[in-house]
Amino acid sequence: MCGIVAYLGQREAYPILINGLKRLEYRGYDSAGVALMQNEAIVLHKCKGKVADLEELCRDKDVSSHLGIAHTRWATHGEPNDKNAHPHLSENGKLALIHNGIVENYLVLRKELVRRGYQLVSDTDTEVVVHLIEDIYKNEQVDLAEAVRLALVGVVGTYALAIISAENPNQLIVAKRGSPLLIGIGDNEYFIGSDGAPIVEYTKNVIYLQEGELAILSLGQDIVIKNSKNKAQRPYLEKLEISLEQLEKGNFEHYMLKEIFEQPNAIKDSMRGRINTRKDMVSLGGIIKYEEKMLNAKRFIIAACGTSWHAGLVGEYLFESLVRVPVEVEYASEFRYRNPIINEDDVLIVISQSGETADTLAAVELAKAKGATVIGICNVVGSTMARNTHAGSYTHAGPEIGVASTKAFSAQITVLSLMALNLAHKKGKIPLSQYHRLISDLEAIPDKIQEILMQNDYIKEIAKFVAQTSNAIYMGRGVNFPVALEGALKLKEISYIHAEGYPAAEMKHGPIALIDEAMPVIVLATEQETYEKVVSNIQEVRARKGKIISVVSKGDTLVKEMSDYAIEIPLTEELLTPLLSCVPLQLLAYHVALLRGCDVDKPRNLAKSVSVE
Ligand code: AGP
Repeated sequence: MCGIVAYLGQREAYPILINGLKRLEYRGYDSAGVALMQNEAIVLHKCKGKVADLEELCRDKDVSSHLGIAHTRWATHGEPNDKNAHPHLSENGKLALIHNGIVENYLVLRKELVRRGYQLVSDTDTEVVVHLIEDIYKNEQVDLAEAVRLALVGVVGTYALAIISAENPNQLIVAKRGSPLLIGIGDNEYFIGSDGAPIVEYTKNVIYLQEGELAILSLGQDIVIKNSKNKAQRPYLEKLEISLEQLEKGNFEHYMLKEIFEQPNAIKDSMRGRINTRKDMVSLGGIIKYEEKMLNAKRFIIAACGTSWHAGLVGEYLFESLVRVPVEVEYASEFRYRNPIINEDDVLIVISQSGETADTLAAVELAKAKGATVIGICNVVGSTMARNTHAGSYTHAGPEIGVASTKAFSAQITVLSLMALNLAHKKGKIPLSQYHRLISDLEAIPDKIQEILMQNDYIKEIAKFVAQTSNAIYMGRGVNFPVALEGALKLKEISYIHAEGYPAAEMKHGPIALIDEAMPVIVLATEQETYEKVVSNIQEVRARKGKIISVVSKGDTLVKEMSDYAIEIPLTEELLTPLLSCVPLQLLAYHVALLRGCDVDKPRNLAKSVSVE
């Protein structure tokens, strides 16, 4: 997810643009840039790094202008560096464009543009758009707005974009499909933003550009809005009602809650372009060069830390069940120091949201030194892990700001599911019918998560009970065991309540001694092969007056009757259950932490990325 800002009007554009970028920093960034119209020419300043680095770059420059566009990049295609930063220029330097979204067919477009003799200088998907517009503008004898509209007809994917032209120094064109874009209406001035954050301090009069629409903003003229069929649309003016602070978190009180609710889209984005719905085929472009190594792996080692390690445990069930190859899951911090046996036909899969976790990075170097193939699953493009592994798949969950990982966890499991399905199918380990069924079950997950999120208020009620305790036990079996661990970690790290996750059967080997009427036991009792065993474990807890909070499959009555609280979740393929059963536990931890007055987004002692040992 990137941030876009633009301004056209009587004021100096640069301060509005830079402040706007700072307002959008929560959207994550790895590079930033600004393009300014000066004396009918476009001046461009952009660099890798923070907005502050861009500000430093511009400090001694002439940044006077009344028209400009600016961008904070959260890389999806191409390393975070100066050349990949936005804005991007057309070949003749007379057009500058910024973009938030993904051009899914950029390789096809790029190939055609190169064939037509264009020199693209970056690795981004965005750059093809500005060259496409230039090509149409030059050859079709149409005005810029029509060239933009025609070019976007050929784009598959999502965009919120702004473009300026040296030949039209008092005009700003914006367009939107799939990514947000707001137009702030001032007194003969226009403010553009990915959301209201860069706009709200100047005006509360906004137009939310609708899907497929394009707007032509010209000084001294009324705004012109067209739909994708080139039909003029009546501008619909709205009021920005909420504060700057709220806007930065959407309508959510905390980033963590926003990210829990973003999971349906995060999972869709982690599948986007990777399931060919026509053939129901999975394709992971990022690992294609090492697919042979993965198909011939004698063993998979999964190394990670924290929540990512829990995702790795789910990966063990997925890979061993579908691919039928041994899997070992390792804490990266232990793996790196115990002089492990690593063979050349091993494949190490490292999982990390940040791609900067020191222990996980060390595991990468260790495995590479021993000749193993190293595959990464990461959420930050261009991160150290993304650069140091042989290949990998990005989770595309968007920036995760809350320290407690939520959407990245479910996106990691989604990518692991795609990887396991792809390998199992290509190795002929599962029948085509099971392959297709699992793919359609995976594609149905986002809507099922949406259904679970509707229980937020009920889970908030349950949190009132848990918030008063000082200990909690989470238990589950099979693929729900890693979810029990993850639920316990969520509660620990944001509410500071001591919590442990256990395989349900392990309770009678000691932990059941902890059970009394003050101990909440959160049980994952969804429909699965060992459901009856979990029921027995619940009975053992109840016999000792433990309080039961259960997560059950929709329609369950047996466990519900045994529970003090029961949260129903939709049915899905057993192996995909973690994608659903983790959501109630994320919400529970969030509400308990809130009730205990904890800083949900920045819990004490923690950092979002543990880039040191
Ligand atoms: C998860 O909620 C924690 N923030 C923490 O355990 C985190 O998962 C761990 O530090 C690993 O981070 P990474 O995924 O960025 O490598």
